[in-house]
Amino acid sequence: MNEYTGIADYYDLLMTSGYYNHEKIAKQIADIVSPEQSIIEIGVGTGLLLEKLLELEPNYKLTGMDHTAAMLEIAQKRLGDRAKLFEADILSMSISDRFDVAISNGGLGAFVDSGNELDFYTHLTDDESNIKALQNIANCLNKGGMFIINIQGVHDNYDKPLAEGIVYSQDIVESTTKPDCIEKTFYFKKGDRILATQQLIYRIFQGEAIAALFNKAGFKLSGKDKSGQFFIASKM
Ligand SMILES: C[S@@+](CC[C@H](N)C(=O)[O-])C[C@H]1O[C@@H](n2cnc3c(N)ncnc32)[C@H](O)[C@@H]1O
Repeated sequence: MNEYTGIADYYDLLMTSGYYNHEKIAKQIADIVSPEQSIIEIGVGTGLLLEKLLELEPNYKLTGMDHTAAMLEIAQKRLGDRAKLFEADILSMSISDRFDVAISNGGLGAFVDSGNELDFYTHLTDDESNIKALQNIANCLNKGGMFIINIQGVHDNYDKPLAEGIVYSQDIVESTTKPDCIEKTFYFKKGDRILATQQLIYRIFQGEAIAALFNKAGFKLSGKDKSGQFFIASKM
């Protein structure tokens, strides 16, 4: 079972309470991607970002992929035939379509701004898997295509009240079994009852290891976009 299966029903409740501001993220993407450019979102989740992009520009040609059927089901209801959606794992994804832009908004992972530097957090824990995933993303881009990755604040521990008396909490510890990884456990609770819980492991790449990883997969790093909210890599 994929990590997001158990929390799919609660995902939108958390997201629309401010975890991500999809409207703002979509506006910033629309500033750098024109309607003529085709877009694939890696780890599309429940389709919240693609929906906001379509509100801004109904002519966007959008595709979303995800390996969690329960998330895709919600995305399908949300987007109907306004986007092409398919189920696949980034590690084994092989498609003949080519895109101008790929987006990861927490899909493969995200950059995290620690204040001094940007670290790259991914859902895949070993080097080989990360290279393979990035190669698969590079393979579905046209030459010179952009890979846009969101930049987040540092992950920390907190409780956050959502609607209907539901509280979200996340708890982060360094992994004792996997090097350079953190384990993030999150819960949706109502009173003493745990409605859903999941654990995610993030691998953290820092400093020169980030450029080395992307270069091996066929990307060069272009740096932050003008909004400072995204990190951009370009297919070589
Ligand atoms: C934090 S959610 C982000 C969802 C969406 N991008 C958004 O902005 O709301 C991460 C998504 O990435 C998907 N994901 C994680 N690892 C994946 C993999 N190896 N292959 C495909 N999808 C993956 C999960 O199923 C989940 O839907």
